[in-house]
Amino acid sequence: MKGTRGMLVVFEGLDRSGKSTQCEKLVQTLRNEGERVEHMRFPNRTTPVGQIINNYLTGEIQQEDHVIHLLFSANRWESAQAIENHIKSGTTVIIDRYSYSGCVYSAAKQNKTMDLAWCRHPEEGLPRPDLCLFLDLSSEEAAKRGGFGTERYEKQDLQARVRDLYAEMGQHPEEREDIVVINAGRSIEELQRDILKVVQVSSRQLDTHGRELRRM
Ligand code: TYD
Ligand code: MG
Repeated sequence: MKGTRGMLVVFEGLDRSGKSTQCEKLVQTLRNEGERVEHMRFPNRTTPVGQIINNYLTGEIQQEDHVIHLLFSANRWESAQAIENHIKSGTTVIIDRYSYSGCVYSAAKQNKTMDLAWCRHPEEGLPRPDLCLFLDLSSEEAAKRGGFGTERYEKQDLQARVRDLYAEMGQHPEEREDIVVINAGRSIEELQRDILKVVQVSSRQLDTHGRELRRM
């Protein structure tokens, strides 16, 4: 990736779809090729906002649905400037979960005043990914992979709704352009190869068209 700015690449998918593994592999591959790469993940549990989110996910505290939704979004806004700075300075930023998780997990709660459109509003203005790799796996397959953990959203019925909502979000006129669906029911190596190809295509497009970083 030789362009003047870095790329913003996001991994999305259900819990246990292999996001973290593939994220790390991509970071390593690009670094080995001599590229500057910043690896981030959301929620970022290390900030004060992130600590509230962590306590919520582990079940130590309760939070009203809208409140926790806005905190997840605030947790991204805390890093928005840093993401932009990295990209402008030519560093590629690869992120494990982003706004799509923010929207679909909250909307999956089926709170009457929190549909996908409502959930997306606080994301508006955040750096928009050049590429969103959606690692697609059925909730049954995900559950089979050693089962979900014990955190708040790691339940199969919620995960099934999350997957449907990811599909719905993929129809959004802007998200549709950014999302590439990757069949995650294959070996780590197969996925890795596929993902690298998609990233290279996206990177070449960016080099050719020299597009500015956009906003959600
Ligand atoms: P996850 O990436 O699964 O963390 P870990 O690998 O440590 O388990 O993220 C934790 C959960 O938070 C996951 O179930 C998805 C959910 N989530 C939201 O509800 N909103 C958000 O904005 C984000 C980023 C994650
Ligand atoms: Mg998880």
